[in-house]
Amino acid sequence: MNNFEFKNPTKIIFGKGSIEKLSNEIPKGAKVLMLYGGGSIKKNGIYDQVKTALANIDVVEFGGIPANPEYAVLMEALKVIKDQNITYLLAVGGGSVIDGTKFLSAAALFEGDNPWDILAKNIKTEKGMPFGTVLTLPATGSEMNSGAVITRKETKQKVTMGGQGLFPVFSILDPLVVASLPERQIANGLTDAFMHVLEQYMTYPTGAILQDRFAESILQTLLEVAPRVMKDPTDYKAASNFMWSCTWALNGLLHKGVPADWASHSMGHELTALFGIDHARTLAIIAPNHYKFNFEAKKDKLAQYAERIWNITEGSTDDKAHAAIEKTVGFFHELGIDTKLSDYTKDYDGTAEIISQRFTDRGWLGMGEHKSLTPDMVEEIVKMAY
Ligand code: NZQ
Ligand code: ZN
Repeated sequence: MNNFEFKNPTKIIFGKGSIEKLSNEIPKGAKVLMLYGGGSIKKNGIYDQVKTALANIDVVEFGGIPANPEYAVLMEALKVIKDQNITYLLAVGGGSVIDGTKFLSAAALFEGDNPWDILAKNIKTEKGMPFGTVLTLPATGSEMNSGAVITRKETKQKVTMGGQGLFPVFSILDPLVVASLPERQIANGLTDAFMHVLEQYMTYPTGAILQDRFAESILQTLLEVAPRVMKDPTDYKAASNFMWSCTWALNGLLHKGVPADWASHSMGHELTALFGIDHARTLAIIAPNHYKFNFEAKKDKLAQYAERIWNITEGSTDDKAHAAIEKTVGFFHELGIDTKLSDYTKDYDGTAEIISQRFTDRGWLGMGEHKSLTPDMVEEIVKMAY
């Protein structure tokens, strides 16, 4: 097992009706900017619950953060933070609103001239403006981690950022919010969380028994609850297991002491930047081809996954590993998620070359758990995904 340090400071407040506990968490005298998305919270009652809980707190609102949080919109919110002397941020939304809030947390205290540098120069934020979250969509794990992904439409970029200072101070996880989610978002959430686990698991055997079992338990739970939550998002037992699994899939624990891959995410972000495809769907397009292309390097772990998750016990290591990739594709299809780029766009010709060139330009010469995936290989994998 590799050496590691682990600290996750986010306080989780989980359960039915927990939004009403919000006011206990906001420091006295804070001036709060409440951030939200395109308005779903006004239809499903979450907005009213939050406003009621904040009745005695000084709150300014900023709505309209789009899915794949847009830099230009966030810059408008940054102006509000400065003009109104905001001291505390509250994200009410899914990964996009929470990630946008993380950027604002960093940008609000940033001492440089241009906040874009935080993204372009990958500046790690050691101290941000404090913020809490009310999660409305289980998927990304952003509610209990310190990373964010910001989009800039103007240049078709989707850039990651983070730093120890960007953990939420608290996150409220009320599984009742799942009830109003469209099927598409539930499918996305299940797929994204499943892929977060695989990015930290589908590498090579290292003898980290506990980390493997943690990862497998999340995969098994997601597979068990997926049909239930897809069929009936008001099934509270299923929704609560779904929500807690998504949080644990990317709160830092799984990655401790073991190698991680993340190449599917890097390639997937480019597909969102170029075509606007939902984040989770880009992973379903890329990952199976990534695993096929890097089969030799990953087959031992693929076979372990085949046995323990899909109960495939017959055949050679290669047979099991291949079967596990097909099972994974089958799971995405059952969720209604298409797994070919051509299912999403007719303009896919040349995409592989563009993505490969972007990685070359950024100096990303070796990705994946062995730091051996070159831009040329990325080109091959994206072509396989057409
Ligand atoms: O904007 P509103 O009106 O709120 O609607 C949203 C949005 O259209 C809707 N929604 C959210 N909660 C709802 C709801 N609709 C009905 N009822 C509710 N309770 O769902 C739509 C999608 O929301 P979004 O926040 O974009 O989804 P998600 O949580 O999947 O976040 C995706 C973003 O997170 C990034 C992705 O790249 C993408 O930008 N990621 C962030 C990560 C992180 N910070 O750790 C890791 C991930 O790998 C991922 O990259
Ligand atoms: Zn993801």
